[in-house]
Amino acid sequence: MSFSVGSHSLLIAPSVLSADFSRLGEEIREVSEGGADLLHLDVMDGHFVPNLTFGPPVIAPLRKWSHLPMEAHLMVSNPASLVEPMAKAGVNRLIVHAETDPHLHRLIESIRISGMSVGVALNPSTPVAVLEEVLPLLDMVLIMTVNPGFGGQSFIEGSISKIRRLVLMKEHLGCSRLRIEVDGGISARNIGQVVSVGADTIVAGTAIFSAPSRKDAIVSLRSAAGGLLV
Ligand code: DX5
Ligand code: ZN
Repeated sequence: MSFSVGSHSLLIAPSVLSADFSRLGEEIREVSEGGADLLHLDVMDGHFVPNLTFGPPVIAPLRKWSHLPMEAHLMVSNPASLVEPMAKAGVNRLIVHAETDPHLHRLIESIRISGMSVGVALNPSTPVAVLEEVLPLLDMVLIMTVNPGFGGQSFIEGSISKIRRLVLMKEHLGCSRLRIEVDGGISARNIGQVVSVGADTIVAGTAIFSAPSRKDAIVSLRSAAGGLLV
């Protein structure tokens, strides 16, 4: 299962959490035709986070609506049980939370073996240092810039220095291909700031799905990133 995202250096990943679930297919087609680079699917179990969304049976048919890579952001207490079902559902990248499994190394390996690209997410209260031993095994780190569970929350300002610390660790460990993704409260107002300190992949829910035009929202996010990465 490949993870190929085209030619942009700055990747925009609409989070469908803020989409109209009654017409999820159309919403996904609209952002795909509107210039998104990948699709961000928030999977919540009502246990690790106080909200419930969807799982593999809802994700699998989405492939009919878009050819973009799909990443599943697992906000669940038992991510290991979803590795194979997510691979079978056509997920290209699986993102697991470091807080959910004491055997993170084993979990990362199982995702790799299943053929998916691997990302690890960190809650706002989890330091980047917990990833030091596994960073070379990852394709991506997701810095949560809100507490996970809901769309439409405010960006946590302390995330800026956290992104900087991750950039330093990435350089120190020679992980030049590692991507740094941010998720939560990102809009045209603050995208320039997160990109300027090193984020290269941007999740945006409300900023895209509450706009009258998905395409215009994606274009304005890219232009607000200030040409730092295009
Ligand atoms: C929050 C989710 C996010 C969320 C982002 O737990 O992981 O992906 O949908 O939504 P906005 O962009 O509205 O903060
Ligand atoms: Zn997410």
